[in-house]
Amino acid sequence: MNILILGSGGREHAFAYKLSQSKKINQLFVAPGNAGTNAIATNISLNPTDFKAVKKVVLEKEIKMVVVGPEAPLVEGVHDFFLADEDLKKIPVIGPKKDGALLEGSKDFSKQFMQKHHIPTAQYKSFTKETLQEGFSFLETLQAPYVLKADGLAAGKGVLILESLEEAKKELAEMLTNQKFGEASSTVVIEEFLDGIELSVFVLTDGKNYKILPSAKDYKRIGEGDKGLNTGGMGAISPVPFADEAYIKKVEERIVKPTVEGLQKDGIDYRGFIFIGLMNVNGEPFVIEYNVRMGDPETEAVLPRITSDLVDLFEGVANQNLSEKEFEVTDKIATTVMLVSGGYPEAYEKGKKISGFETIESSIVFHAGTKNENEEVVTNGGRVMAITSLGNTIEEALETSYKNIDKITFEKMNYRKDIGFDLIAE
Ligand code: AMP
Ligand code: GLY
Repeated sequence: MNILILGSGGREHAFAYKLSQSKKINQLFVAPGNAGTNAIATNISLNPTDFKAVKKVVLEKEIKMVVVGPEAPLVEGVHDFFLADEDLKKIPVIGPKKDGALLEGSKDFSKQFMQKHHIPTAQYKSFTKETLQEGFSFLETLQAPYVLKADGLAAGKGVLILESLEEAKKELAEMLTNQKFGEASSTVVIEEFLDGIELSVFVLTDGKNYKILPSAKDYKRIGEGDKGLNTGGMGAISPVPFADEAYIKKVEERIVKPTVEGLQKDGIDYRGFIFIGLMNVNGEPFVIEYNVRMGDPETEAVLPRITSDLVDLFEGVANQNLSEKEFEVTDKIATTVMLVSGGYPEAYEKGKKISGFETIESSIVFHAGTKNENEEVVTNGGRVMAITSLGNTIEEALETSYKNIDKITFEKMNYRKDIGFDLIAE
């Protein structure tokens, strides 16, 4: 069958890599894709939120399934668009409709959902411009640090963690009355601070059945030792050592089952990935956030560990028979290190020639911000390439990644040399 992947990052290259291994694939398209996807599939230049352009490609290329990488097309309703269109309604979309995408699109909605279905999460209240004073009073009942979250999508920047009450009040006013994050902060969620270690668990669901994919931990800060500005993610490890079978069972019983059942009870027919961001507080999992897609760079560590056919699993999602599908994961550990442009996550330059990656065999090179230009591959974004290796231990896998990274060069290349530092046994 012909499949179209929407998106252009390392996550989408990882999807293309895994889907292209399936015997069920005839032609694979990625829109808009990058230089990496172009080497194993056919790139099509379009904006994934331009649904009319997506429709044209789907009909022209006889696409039989669409896999949505990023959240924006889902939150804007690409799945609903397909269902409402006579020519497209039978073509499965992997990713929820608008109603399910609200789990990521609105923090207020996702907190209400968790509360209603008794899913462990931080205590919270939501406020608007009209209830600013109540917001101040609520802050006074909490202890530092204070967590403020813009309700809507704010490109990963809408969460503030503040040390003093004074600062928290000032920021709350900025968000609500001065729209610090635009429309996204017209409602603000204030929540209790959870002190622990973060990890992510990924679920693939057909709306009734689910598979729990491998856990992963990502490294969001630009600097070593988790210092400096937040990025999209500088690396990932899968699985997370402390998330053993007993821990995942806890996550399944307390979080995954009530989430999938809650969606069903609320009449939300959810077909796709649920990315559950967790905080492990003294061995107990709490949900920090839901995303309605896979993570980037977590996907680059998680998918290479899945040994089953991903097309087959996606067919299970589309046909609601996911429980009948085979699902196997290797015991090997995967580590991913992201190579970024100098200056990222602030201003950086593009168009730098990348060399040395073509001959790498013992790691998988996933392209993120790259493109083809005059027979060369050049940088085209902040996050440029994700280098994934498998090994028997985190150390072994990382050693392979770092050894291969030494072969890659582009002007002002930067990366973290301490991915996994907090997970490696003393
Ligand atoms: P979110 O966009 O909800 O994932 O939040 C961004 C980051 O803020 C998370 O990855 C956590 O590191 C942190 N964070 C969010 N909520 C809390 C909380 N309640 N307690 C502690 N840290 C939090
Ligand atoms: N790596 C975090 C995310 O994809 O949201």
